[in-house]
Amino acid sequence: MKTEQSNRFSVDPAELQRQSEYSDMVRTVLSARFAPDRPKAFVHTYGCQGNVSDGEKIKGILCDLGFALTDDLQQADLVLYNTCAIREHAQDRVFGNVGKLKPIKEQKRSMLIALCGCMMQQDYVAEKIKKSYPYVDLVFGTHVIYKLPEFLYRCFCSGKRVFDLSGGDGNIVEGLPVHRDGSFKAWIPIMYGCNNFCSYCVVPLVRGRERSRSFEAVVEEARDLVNAGYKELTLLGQNVNSYNKDLDPSLRFPALLRAINAIPGDFIIRFMTSHPRDCSKELLQAMADCEKVAKHLHLPFQSGNDRVLREMNRHYDSAKYLSLIDEAYRLMPELSVTSDVIVGFPGETADEFEDTLSIVRRVRFTSLFTFIFSPRPGTKAAALEDPTPREEKNRRFKALTDLQESIAAQRTAAMRGKTYRVLVEEPGREEGFLSGRTEGNVIIEFPADASLIGTFQYVTVTEPKTWILKGELNP
Ligand code: SAH
Ligand code: SF4
Ligand code: F3S
Repeated sequence: MKTEQSNRFSVDPAELQRQSEYSDMVRTVLSARFAPDRPKAFVHTYGCQGNVSDGEKIKGILCDLGFALTDDLQQADLVLYNTCAIREHAQDRVFGNVGKLKPIKEQKRSMLIALCGCMMQQDYVAEKIKKSYPYVDLVFGTHVIYKLPEFLYRCFCSGKRVFDLSGGDGNIVEGLPVHRDGSFKAWIPIMYGCNNFCSYCVVPLVRGRERSRSFEAVVEEARDLVNAGYKELTLLGQNVNSYNKDLDPSLRFPALLRAINAIPGDFIIRFMTSHPRDCSKELLQAMADCEKVAKHLHLPFQSGNDRVLREMNRHYDSAKYLSLIDEAYRLMPELSVTSDVIVGFPGETADEFEDTLSIVRRVRFTSLFTFIFSPRPGTKAAALEDPTPREEKNRRFKALTDLQESIAAQRTAAMRGKTYRVLVEEPGREEGFLSGRTEGNVIIEFPADASLIGTFQYVTVTEPKTWILKGELNP
């Protein structure tokens, strides 16, 4: 068994040095064009938290190059969309929004338009952008974010379009600047890519092979964030349970949780996503033992039917899923469990869908992310026959969301009168209210002064609604 981490995914330091030289050249170009002002960049990220974390690196690089960030598209000198490919709908939204940039660019020819992220890592999308969206200047994939200085330099100096989708299996680049969106909640990617090849999923195709950051790098980042006053750290990976899978147990995910838990300070640790195939008793035990780890488990089950799970290539059955849940509730009776479900996988029958409802009734999730199957080009499931009409899929989807809604309402009703520790996050929807989250990831709103944002408070539930609780701050 290996005890040291291989660095076969590290990028050559000479290449990083080259990028730092490009950074200097971009700074010179930008100050010649914009001084005494700073050029403005509008950056928007679609998709999962992993992509949001990439977006924070992109913003970090741009700020390092001298850009100021703006929320006003019309003011922007650079517009960058960091895209998601998980479902067709996600891609349609991006194409729609890129289309809307055309008249803006016609008014302001100097505006640079850049697209990156998972959607761009697919050849057919990059081709479509090349042919049908000639006003897009720069397209790059998920593996070359660190080359942004070079791409911008080439765009500015050659005036030609730049396309770079290289990277194949993926890499790990440490030390990029990060512009974090929040001052008390932070994302920490612990691994990249995915090896699971669930038959419906595009992620392995656009994010490359699974690779883990070093244990020390992750713990050091967590320590720095805690020292900088961050109150919530969320560890990210498509399958966190296989973090450092091939290495010594002292360097795997449960050990990582324990090491971060041991950092002194008042903060909370979250993580996502766990895959039931690799979710171990050791992980559940570590969750139960570590007082800073939120008692919230996001454990996607996707389908309650064993034939469908096999077709999905998920490598567990409903019995294994339920035994994990039983063990988790045994160790942590107050645990909040959430999940992802796909409705209408090709060939799913009405009876097979009933098995999905049975799991929902049995586990009584806090909340569910529910999706109708979307065929993704290049995945195995996209080639399967799918005879079920859309109306029937919609019916199943509604049956699932109705069931979950009634369970959520019962669960929140049972929270009435109880007191929870809450990290206060932002203004609530009503004037004078703030909004925060319980450890179990339920939103609670209560009247309080905005100065409490970013602190932990105790809040008692006075009025439970289906998805959101209303409460009162404890004195
Ligand atoms: N790595 C995570 C999931 C990442 S994608 C895991 O394995 O649990 C988030 C969710 O999107 C998935 O859990 C799945 O429910 C949904 N999803 C992924 N591909 C999909 C597709 N082609 N159609 C519909 N939903 C999909
Ligand atoms: Fe996609 Fe499956 Fe990997 Fe999750 S585990 S990212 S669903 S292939
Ligand atoms: Fe989307 Fe890529 Fe995440 S496809 S869900 S942004 S890994």
